[in-house]
Amino acid sequence: MKTLSTIPATLTLLLPFAASQSNLTAHLPNEYTYLLPRPFNNTFTQPFVDTNISDPTASTQLSQARTSSFISYSDEFDTILGPDPQVRLIAESPHPFAFEGGVWIPPLNQIWFTAFLNPPPGYITILDIRTSTTFRPNLTGPAANIPINPNGAYYFNGLVYLTSFGNPTTSPSIVSIDPHTYATHEVLNSFFGLPLNGPDDVTIARSRTTGQPCLFYSDFFFAVEGLAGTWPGPQELPNAVYRFTSADESLQMAISPLDVQTPNGLAVNRDNTLLYVSDGPDSAVFGQPYNSTSGTPGLYVFDLGGVDGCTPMNKRLLSIARQGFVNGIKIDDFGRIWGTEYEGVVVRSQTGKVLGVFNVVDIVGTDGPDVATGANFALAKDELFILGFQKIYAVKLGKAVKTWY
Ligand SMILES: *[C@@H]1O[C@H](CO)[C@@H](O)[C@H](O)[C@H]1NC(C)=O
Ligand SMILES: *[C@@H]1O[C@H](CO)[C@@H](O)[C@H](O)[C@H]1NC(C)=O
Ligand SMILES: *[C@@H]1O[C@H](CO)[C@@H](O)[C@H](O)[C@H]1NC(C)=O
Ligand SMILES: *[C@@H]1O[C@H](CO)[C@@H](O)[C@H](O)[C@H]1NC(C)=O
Ligand SMILES: *[C@@H]1O[C@H](CO)[C@@H](O)[C@H](O)[C@H]1NC(C)=O
Repeated sequence: MKTLSTIPATLTLLLPFAASQSNLTAHLPNEYTYLLPRPFNNTFTQPFVDTNISDPTASTQLSQARTSSFISYSDEFDTILGPDPQVRLIAESPHPFAFEGGVWIPPLNQIWFTAFLNPPPGYITILDIRTSTTFRPNLTGPAANIPINPNGAYYFNGLVYLTSFGNPTTSPSIVSIDPHTYATHEVLNSFFGLPLNGPDDVTIARSRTTGQPCLFYSDFFFAVEGLAGTWPGPQELPNAVYRFTSADESLQMAISPLDVQTPNGLAVNRDNTLLYVSDGPDSAVFGQPYNSTSGTPGLYVFDLGGVDGCTPMNKRLLSIARQGFVNGIKIDDFGRIWGTEYEGVVVRSQTGKVLGVFNVVDIVGTDGPDVATGANFALAKDELFILGFQKIYAVKLGKAVKTWY
């Protein structure tokens, strides 16, 4: 369904998807997710809809799904889409500007996102939702030059929290940015003198016990993934989820690598009772064959409890990614878990069941500069913003799904 007309680079515009709306959604029998007519074959480095299958009905349904923007397995996903879902290309750049971050700033109705790090350096871009224009902020204040190669972002209590992978002269960091003035302050950069490995994602809970904020970040040594220009190490800390509580100024490892080997995406639910964490092992990221030590692309959930109300406990494995791993997790108003896997933005129920997929292979195409076609996304009320490297697509949903931050 790649029928969009060619658009001059750097122009930001509103363009309806030039396709029959009735063909945007493919409905696949949920049974296909666990029981297929034989014979069939596939590999974990290819999407489910690429499954080779002899049965003519299943073969036709899967190949139609492959070229559909939305793949639905449930009535609930149809309700999310509404009767007339729209996909629009809303911004484009000759550079892969739309990779990570993907946070909605409600008072300004903006999306903040960060660029792919090849070529370095990365940078922040802001999308004004109302006008569909994009611009780059000029950071000010004492830490304006600290967030080099920025990556994950979260909005909390009036500030944008941003992670950065650093460069050979500036080690990784987490900063806060006032989205009105761009005044930037460093929040944390070390553990008793040891530099961070590479904070990938950040999220903040408000403890139900103390009322105080608890900042969680996933730290993993990004330089091993082979992109030039980030903090080269050597790695001084285990890859882990860390927690910073500003009330008592305490930075602690909160989830050890024995629980989640290579933590990546992080999200807290609206009630501050649950912390979701994804694992992004090399096998899943780069499609290397799985074996007994290669890890699992797991999506885990922890209760937030303990005396501080912010201790991750009672780990449960909710699901695994079918292809790739779960990136950019967001929890919607209804407790559903949204995440970018290599097949697209996958929406799961609270029990991990896949309700449907925003099919990035069709919406964005397959020619991204990275192993995945899409990396992250943002949710703002009834709109989904898919970050597809050089392109950003907006999908108008049937109803508001995310109204808080
Ligand atoms: C919709 O999909 C069907 C099945 O692939 C195809 O026959 C039909 O031509 C498509 N309609 C439009 C308007 O693209
Ligand atoms: C489908 O089968 C063909 C022929 O054997 C093979 O080349 C291809 O890799 C298979 N596709 C998948 C997704 O396994
Ligand atoms: C996979 O399926 C395709 C198409 O049905 C078939 O041609 C191929 O031989 C199969 N490959 C394997 C390894 O079974
Ligand atoms: C940032 O600074 C550049 C160069 O002075 C300027 O062109 C741009 O408009 C500024 N951006 C914002 C958001 O003010
Ligand atoms: C297991 O997989 C990991 C990750 O791909 C790889 O580094 C390692 O060499 C593999 N081990 C064996 C025994 O194949």
